Amino acid sequence: ITVNVTDRDGARTEGVQWEDHESLMEALTRNKFPILATCGGNASCSTCHCYLGASAQTAGAKSPIGDEEEDVLDMLDDTRHEDSRLTCQVEWSEDLDGAEVTIAPEW
Ligand code: FES
Repeated sequence: ITVNVTDRDGARTEGVQWEDHESLMEALTRNKFPILATCGGNASCSTCHCYLGASAQTAGAKSPIGDEEEDVLDMLDDTRHEDSRLTCQVEWSEDLDGAEVTIAPEW
């Protein structure tokens, strides 16, 4: 599937490939977006934080926010929005084809 990614400077890239064996964080880092993923995908660093816009519900249905992710998102205060996710916790889903992903500001 592909997603459209808006970077921190507002630049939007369409058609970013997301392979079915990857988390969304892995797809973003493979495509060279500025996602540090310092914890390696363990829902503890928050550097993979993104907004999923209208697709947030679908993502949540497939990969609901777990306790660890909730704790980390809670610490983000101002930058946490309703559609915030740690992208390392968002699993590939056909339903997310064409989703709009916005990279959250740096903490
Ligand atoms: Fe660290 Fe997602 S990579 S929280």
